[in-house]
Amino acid sequence: MLSRKDGILFIEGVSSLQLAEKFGTPLYVTSKEQLERNILAYREAFPDCEILYAVKANNNLAIMKIIAKNGFGADVFSAGELYMALLAGFPKDKILFNGNSKSDDEIEMGVSACVKFSVDSLDELKTLDKIAGKYDKMVEIAFRINPNIDPKTHPKIATGLKESKFGIQMEQAIEAYEVAMKCKNIRPVGIHFHIGSQILETLPFVEALKKIEELAIELEKIGVRLEFIDIGGGLGIDYEGKGAPTPMDLARAVLPVFEDIRARLRSKPKLWLEPGRSIVGNTTVLLTKVNAVKKGYKNFVAVDAGFNILIRPAMYNAYHRVLVANKEGEEELYTIVGPICESGDILAKDRRLPRIEKGDILVILDTGAYGFAMSSQYNGRPRCAEVLVSGEKVALIRERESFGDLIAKQRIPEWI
Ligand code: LLP
Repeated sequence: MLSRKDGILFIEGVSSLQLAEKFGTPLYVTSKEQLERNILAYREAFPDCEILYAVKANNNLAIMKIIAKNGFGADVFSAGELYMALLAGFPKDKILFNGNSKSDDEIEMGVSACVKFSVDSLDELKTLDKIAGKYDKMVEIAFRINPNIDPKTHPKIATGLKESKFGIQMEQAIEAYEVAMKCKNIRPVGIHFHIGSQILETLPFVEALKKIEELAIELEKIGVRLEFIDIGGGLGIDYEGKGAPTPMDLARAVLPVFEDIRARLRSKPKLWLEPGRSIVGNTTVLLTKVNAVKKGYKNFVAVDAGFNILIRPAMYNAYHRVLVANKEGEEELYTIVGPICESGDILAKDRRLPRIEKGDILVILDTGAYGFAMSSQYNGRPRCAEVLVSGEKVALIRERESFGDLIAKQRIPEWI
């Protein structure tokens, strides 16, 4: 999706400098072609499976619409994500409402939208049964099971360890399904797990699936008809240029094990997946302008995007490759920092880049997942715009916020 013409970086057929000029910076730029390639890679790797896009990775409506149009379902983690997923056109029978702390109102919205639920606790189950009864509906559920697997990723994004807040312990699973079987308005039809994110090996997925095998067999014995086993998301992407498993690698590792499990079951469940990052991560770059270059203890480059716009480096020590949009050539060592009033506001440390000056445009790669989605207005900075490119076409898909947006919901009491 990236190429150089006369030294200038192009995203598909569009000059990054012209984009920065026209829409301002910081600016997220997404390639429709790259998104479609990623969608196709999953389709080819998992032809008979249900693929639910994890909306939390990137909830831009235009981006979600492209994914929905390609027949994917959606994993939503809040009523807000459910609202946006329905707007984007994901069919409700392909939406799974996840979450470890759903409010009664959120459950009510999910029930009235007729989506399936991944239930995280017995308290949630009871509330769901009651609300489903009120609406006279039968709700299909899976339980989120904690398989106690180490996915060997950053501790903040490992979700299937035994100490994690997510899911029901394996030892308590059968009992939970037994309780669900007795609920009047609930039908347990699935098993769900999600072990973490940015996982760069396929083995943890296989291990988790193997751990689920006996549970699936026991569940059939107590009368559960399994329609799906959902192995979550988590496939990592190649942030550092060192390689990463592809959807096909994941399929080759996981599908034979799944087929073995299926062969032992009467109910022939389908495999479900919930990829987020590996669908949108490498579709997008962040353009940011250099406000100042300063030789201090280090060679600091101060840009207009900070952890308000891209929090991953500050939060997870995440690595994103950086390029200079408008030049190549002799390199120096730079540390790229944002405009936020915190020492942790560092986007990239000690990078070799062509000599940088004020006004240059830097390009931060692989920012389509958990980029804009985790942005904030911290330090009184409106969130930035997003554009979609395809060939030479460009469309604004999210307007830059204004100062008015900073105060839009604030009220000043008369009595102060
Ligand atoms: N399903 C569930 C239940 C999840 O919790 C997640 C991500 C996914 C699917 C999608 O996982 P993915 O394929 O994107 O790895 N903000 C962090 C990542 C947090 C992931 C949270 N859950 C980051 O920027 O690395």
